Amino acid sequence: MCSVVGYIGKDYGRNFIIEGLSRLEYRGYDSAGFACLHPENNRLLYCKAEGRLQNLAAKFVTNPIDGHIGIGHTRWSTHGKPTETNAHPQFDCQQIISVVHNGIIENHHQLRVQLLEDGHVFHSDTDTEIIAHLIESLLKKHNDLNRAIVQLVAMLEGAFSFICIMEAYPDQMILVRKRSPLCIGMGDDEMFVASDALAFAEKTQKVLFLQDESFAIVRRNGVEIYDFKEKPLPIMIHELAFDWKAGDKRGHKHFMLKEIYEQKRAIHATVEFLASLQDDLWGHIGLSEEVIYNLERLSLIGCGTSWHAARIAQFFFENICNIPTRIYLASEMRYMPFFRESQSLYIAISQSGETADTLEALRMVSSFNLPTLALTNVASSTMVREADGFLLTQAGHEIAVASTKAFSTQLAALYWLAHRIAYEKKLIDGQAMELAEDDLLIAAEVLENSIENYKFIIQQKLAPFYAQFKQSIFLGRHISYPFALEAALKLKEVSYIFAQCYPAGELKHGPLALIDEHIPVFIFSCQDQVIYRKLVANAQEAKARGGHIVAFCFEGQQELIDLADVPFIFPRCRALLEPLVMSGLMQYFVYEIANVLGCEIDKPRNLAKSVTVE
Ligand code: G6P
Repeated sequence: MCSVVGYIGKDYGRNFIIEGLSRLEYRGYDSAGFACLHPENNRLLYCKAEGRLQNLAAKFVTNPIDGHIGIGHTRWSTHGKPTETNAHPQFDCQQIISVVHNGIIENHHQLRVQLLEDGHVFHSDTDTEIIAHLIESLLKKHNDLNRAIVQLVAMLEGAFSFICIMEAYPDQMILVRKRSPLCIGMGDDEMFVASDALAFAEKTQKVLFLQDESFAIVRRNGVEIYDFKEKPLPIMIHELAFDWKAGDKRGHKHFMLKEIYEQKRAIHATVEFLASLQDDLWGHIGLSEEVIYNLERLSLIGCGTSWHAARIAQFFFENICNIPTRIYLASEMRYMPFFRESQSLYIAISQSGETADTLEALRMVSSFNLPTLALTNVASSTMVREADGFLLTQAGHEIAVASTKAFSTQLAALYWLAHRIAYEKKLIDGQAMELAEDDLLIAAEVLENSIENYKFIIQQKLAPFYAQFKQSIFLGRHISYPFALEAALKLKEVSYIFAQCYPAGELKHGPLALIDEHIPVFIFSCQDQVIYRKLVANAQEAKARGGHIVAFCFEGQQELIDLADVPFIFPRCRALLEPLVMSGLMQYFVYEIANVLGCEIDKPRNLAKSVTVE
């Protein structure tokens, strides 16, 4: 779980690099390092430290190196112990080439043996050092930087991204990407480079995401990009829709509240980002078009909220692109018989891209040589690196443990992807694709407006009232059932109120026995007339037993509105977008209940944001 950051430009780069690394440090690391070229004589200077970034920063007091071109790294050790020597940057024999690297060079042993035979001297146990020595020998052989890189990448196996600076090329930085993300922030006479745009989001909104299997020559005033055969690639600049200010609640009492309110922008950013990838989508994702054309089955894998997003998305893929879709709970999937299905794509859904069960399930699928895609919010995550392809939501940094904007942007991205696959399979035309994008933007609007509509009454009356109950029942049907699961999870996570969720049709098979005036029943409606009628019947059953009904329903659903003690009424929308439209208000309501109870909302007891243990 390493991070790389680089700078080239008019200013000195060290402060930005250390700040950029610290923005990515929530991912965990065990050592750090920095290298730059001396601003006057271009000599390579470096500094490394075990442990936290502060340890590295403390060393700058006595060793205040800095330059107009520099690279930095936080390392999570894979090859070799977390020592200063093994920390990055790593160097060639003469210490004039310096490399920071994410990922793993799988054939490093074999390459090391060859390099040792050729007389190279190694200092570390890392696979990264191989890269510096190989560049050294390839440059001696060819004296042509681009050719050396093309030859280098042909020799390296595995998933990797790295940044290299060299005394011989003091005005350029070399970036290489294969299955591990790298992006460039385009500034004014300066360029910012990182494994995750979060590192430079405060510096520039113009980002160039390096395509898979490509390399870039970055100068302070320009970028050249090539594929691994040295064919020049077009420069595609994306606009970051908003800056990510981690650690700042922007006046909100909790991060969860701030993140609930960021959803409209985050959905917009996700849709705009995905739409901007239209032409080179599959290249960007890292999958071949063939996989998509021949797709006959889909499997979605996740845990927690991401599993709920997967269950909702099952309705997208089955209805929009007619593809039978299986949903796997990652923690269960790994211990069930696995039937290899050809013409299938496996999508791991994970906000963090690090959840251990999802990651292991992904690895299991990969071991069967089946195509995989990671849908995540963290560009530099392990899943991005290990899956064949990846698609990024643009939620920005989510800090509260209970997921809100990551969930809604997952829904938006999956809805978009279902349309894009349908388009590829010629089931819908370009106009329908554009309409789907518009519908997502409208849904984002409604999501936010509905919070505003009910905010006052929730704060004043409803949250204090519902905070008194010790338990609750959640009901949904069809697409609203997985959404009800998510709503129940959200209430449990932040308020510690016991919540049990059922498909509404199961009510009379047991849970009805629980219902009396001491238990609120949350019902999530659908616009489909047949399903709506059934839900009304379920609401009547609960009401007849004294149940207290909170209904999330749509305009014109008068019977349900009349039955409910509290009706939240939403404008009509695309049926498949009902969960997205309702998610903001649902999250806001449970947030306010937890707020009344004085819970530790952002960090609920016993829970972690990223569950990296099984
Ligand atoms: C933890 C978090 C949840 C999250 C789940 C899956 O349980 O508290 O909010 O939904 O992990 O996380 P992921 O990063 O894979 O989406």
